[in-house]
Amino acid sequence: MKKAALAVVGCGKLAQNQHISNIIKSRNARLHTLCDLNGELLKDLTRRFPGTASCTDIGQVLANPEIDGVVIATREDMHVPLAVQALSAGKHVYVEKPLAETPEDCAKVVSAEKISGKKLLVGMNRRMAPAYRDAREILNRNGGAKAIFYRIADAYAIDWGKSFGPGKRLIHEVCHIFDICRFMTGSDVRSVYCLSTRRDEENIVLQFESGATAMILSSGYAPWETPKEHFEAVAEVGVLTVDEFCELNTYGMPGEVLNKKYPGHSHVEREQSHVSWIADAGLAGIVGLRRMLADRQREVEALDHDSEEYRRRRDFLDHRLPHINYSVDKGWLGAIEHFADVILDGVPVEAATAEDALSAARITRAAVISRAENRIVAMEDVD
Ligand SMILES: NC(=O)c1ccc[n+]([C@@H]2O[C@H](COP(=O)([O-])OP(=O)(O)OC[C@H]3O[C@@H](n4cnc5c(N)ncnc54)[C@H](O)[C@@H]3O)[C@@H](O)[C@H]2O)c1
Repeated sequence: MKKAALAVVGCGKLAQNQHISNIIKSRNARLHTLCDLNGELLKDLTRRFPGTASCTDIGQVLANPEIDGVVIATREDMHVPLAVQALSAGKHVYVEKPLAETPEDCAKVVSAEKISGKKLLVGMNRRMAPAYRDAREILNRNGGAKAIFYRIADAYAIDWGKSFGPGKRLIHEVCHIFDICRFMTGSDVRSVYCLSTRRDEENIVLQFESGATAMILSSGYAPWETPKEHFEAVAEVGVLTVDEFCELNTYGMPGEVLNKKYPGHSHVEREQSHVSWIADAGLAGIVGLRRMLADRQREVEALDHDSEEYRRRRDFLDHRLPHINYSVDKGWLGAIEHFADVILDGVPVEAATAEDALSAARITRAAVISRAENRIVAMEDVD
């Protein structure tokens, strides 16, 4: 079977935790080249993933006719220039979210894609999560989502989000949720109201053109134990919930599955028993795993950081056990396999496009204005 030859450009934390591993285990893609500015990192990665070419200059990737598509996983400041360069060189592109921090920059990619005749997918990967694909089909069979509640709560403001800069949670994290709410309702947003008590913590109300509404609770102050995401929709008929991408429930939807569990996400280099554990136990499984891993983190951090035991146990947690945030299936593997299907068979794009990223950036801008001015912002008033 022919496999799409992919290069990963930007081989940092996300690429190592997701894209590299996912390409290797995918049914229809193969890892051709790793590209990063950091030569030392490339030496380590080519040792860990033998048989892979490497280079520090994207120019070499783009000049290589063997490479079908590039997965751009640099930080957001380089997404637009690298994506435009890759499209202009005739490569299909999968680029991480946020496509850009502003609608204006997203629009540059929309234009470049049209001119290139190639396809560009954006890593707002929840659209490809198995539980969310099922949820959307079930909701559509039952008259569509009318009222949505979405909770996304994590340690953004007190931990990993710090690297994106304070107050940028709407841009970097909630863009995923704006996108999935559009996906679930099949509708564009008409207006946005955003209230905030502290930086990186917001309640946001979206009104859709379809008349549907969504309420998003986003907090960057939740400890690791907290199940990060909860989706809930009241349809024309019945109610559906998805917890942590691993458990779907329906209520009052005759003929639909009542309860379905989804396996966790695996990584080729890491221990994988959590995958079947989450498939069996669903939400209770991921909550147990989160509590257990959070306890281990606290134990290890209490050790003397110069001790051999600290180094050994830190290494085990960081490199062998599942990364807590990556232990459920949020659609990263599905997105890569879909990218390869688009390249190989020209299937219609079902993942988020550059236009979807532009919409998410415009909703983000409306939320930022709403938060600052404490008023409902109509999308037609947003540039
Ligand atoms: N979809 C998701 O679920 C998800 C999750 C986490 C992060 N992300 C996104 O992934 C992106 C990467 O995040 P990260 O935490 O891995 O960042 P990172 O800083 O760990 O990695 C970025 C890498 O890009 C390399 N790089 C920078 N400029 C380059 C260039 N011109 N050519 C080649 N390599 C270059 C850097 O050397 C670095 O190794 C961000 O945009 C982030 O928002 C997405």
